[in-house]
Amino acid sequence: MQTTQTFQKTNDFNDIVNNRRSIKQYDPSVKISREEMSQIIEQASTAPSSINMQPWRFVVIDTQEGKEKIGPLTSFNVEKVMSASAVIAVFGDMKNIEYAKEIYGKAVELGYMPQDVMQAQLDYFKPAYENAPYDKMKDIVMLDSGLVAMQLMLVARAHGYGTNPIGGYDKENIAEVLDLDKERYVPVMLMTIGKALSEGYPSYRLPVETITEWK
Ligand SMILES: Cc1cc2nc3c(=O)[nH]c(=O)nc-3n(C[C@H](O)[C@H](O)[C@H](O)COP(=O)(O)O)c2cc1C
Repeated sequence: MQTTQTFQKTNDFNDIVNNRRSIKQYDPSVKISREEMSQIIEQASTAPSSINMQPWRFVVIDTQEGKEKIGPLTSFNVEKVMSASAVIAVFGDMKNIEYAKEIYGKAVELGYMPQDVMQAQLDYFKPAYENAPYDKMKDIVMLDSGLVAMQLMLVARAHGYGTNPIGGYDKENIAEVLDLDKERYVPVMLMTIGKALSEGYPSYRLPVETITEWK
């Protein structure tokens, strides 16, 4: 199949933001290497997160076998899923606080954070997170993971790839189908990624006056 160079690699911030579209058709012959996908994920994960716990987790489904496994869960999105180079399943880790010692410990080791600040953070936030009600922690991980997902879509554009965030899938069963503990890993979204075969559709945005209040 002929590859359409719909998006080129770019560092033009305005082009990346203004011309991102949800991509519905991908060139199935274009594979993103795991090395490049890792670079995309690494850069996306510079996103901010509540107390820097980085609760986002990714399952990259880049094999035919993997796509066939999740295909039946993706209802009207199945064609996008099957033609994309990969589908990234984004989850929020409800036990993200288990990484607190690693995250703050590394920050101390690297000279980013004084030891006493680390201790104060751990003393205050670790019990707060461990004892947080399920819904409160879910709000935190959904918000943080939404931010990383947005970054991922923009980083993908910088690499010349299109994406489509997908909320239309079986959220009840996606974790189990991907062999994850569904109590611990809450589904945030699926995201198709690949070489776009078309630019996607322009879409209307509400004017600033409608979405903004000034006080
Ligand atoms: C959380 C979320 C869920 C979405 N779910 C779907 C989906 O299931 N299928 C789909 O084709 N597009 C889905 N979209 C894409 C939106 O339809 C799209 O972002 C919106 O129409 C604006 O178009 P644009 O992304 O091209 O700017 C979703 C977007 C978001 C943010």
